[in-house]
Amino acid sequence: MGAVNRLYRRARFFVRRVTSFDRERVMQFARQSATLSKAPVWWVAADMAWCAVRYETTFENYSEWDFRILRGRERRTYMTDPKSFHLSRRLNDDSIRGVFDDKLQFAHRFGDELGRAWLDVTATDVAALAAFLEGRERVITKNPGGVGGNGITMRDVATVGDTAAFREELLRTGETLVEEVLEQHPEMARLYPGSVNSLRVVTYRDPDDVVHVLAAVLKVGNGGVIDNFSNGGMYTMLDADGRALHAASDEEGHPFETHPITGVAITGYQVPLYPEVLELVDRLARRVPEMPYIGWDVAITPERPVVIEGNHNTGVFQSKPSVSGIRRGLLPRYRAAMRF
Ligand SMILES: Nc1ncnc2c1ncn2[C@@H]1O[C@H](COP(=O)(O)OP(=O)(O)O)[C@@H](O)[C@H]1O
Ligand SMILES: [Mg+2]
Repeated sequence: MGAVNRLYRRARFFVRRVTSFDRERVMQFARQSATLSKAPVWWVAADMAWCAVRYETTFENYSEWDFRILRGRERRTYMTDPKSFHLSRRLNDDSIRGVFDDKLQFAHRFGDELGRAWLDVTATDVAALAAFLEGRERVITKNPGGVGGNGITMRDVATVGDTAAFREELLRTGETLVEEVLEQHPEMARLYPGSVNSLRVVTYRDPDDVVHVLAAVLKVGNGGVIDNFSNGGMYTMLDADGRALHAASDEEGHPFETHPITGVAITGYQVPLYPEVLELVDRLARRVPEMPYIGWDVAITPERPVVIEGNHNTGVFQSKPSVSGIRRGLLPRYRAAMRF
């Protein structure tokens, strides 16, 4: 692709974002970043705009990875959400995105790797739902099209009452995928027992069928029953052996050297069954050849790692400089694997 072409594409993307942006939210990010240095907020806002064009950062990216305190040659090494978005558009075949966008299709396609029972309420009757609830204390109901933790509810079966009415409610609210609640490995529960703490492992299967792990992330819940950012969750990055490299941080950028609820030390925490995790994502990445660039949510049960879902337009996860001391992003790793 020509340089002019590329600049044009970036500028167009940037203008689209600027015209749809939320001024208050951007200023909030600018203020957050401004506290890292002595620069005035207007200067930070201008720097944010510059980075959006030069490095393709969103305002969130600029703030999340502390671009305010990075030098140009450090900034250059960061993968960003717009860059990742363009890569998934280019590498993944959009026509079958339903396999990942629809959790029901995903469950059919990846059945044996899910490690949990599930039921499609739209394709079954009241008796089947009653049989599914029978003998279970809790279930999770999900909107099959949901993202970012939206449309997911943990339910106590004891409070469900009339099954026919419950089924109607699920059909009305769209939470038509009912799942068995995963039991997590005791070592993962020790971190925070309130949610299933998952890994996000981003893989790329190259044209020679080599599967590259581009990023491995440990997500930990904090107060919520699910571990997503939007529910108070935090994340840290893992090394090649599944050991946490540094403290975790949440959506607001707060650092957590230890978990605020359980007190467990985050840095150096070893994810259990990690060799099996790598085997799992290697198998998963080969399963849908039309979609080579995927971010997998993985849970670790007492017996084995299982897949929660796959994301064909995965977000970007990198070490936060002010928390980790690491001032280098993952772009070189993506470049080497994807050869761009
Ligand atoms: N069957 C399950 N049992 C226990 N926890 C679950 C289950 N499914 C999802 N979760 C929790 O909810 C989070 C979000 O689920 P996910 O299916 O990835 O939805 P989303 O697309 O909104 O990210 C998971 O990371 C995990 O913490
Ligand atoms: Mg998820």
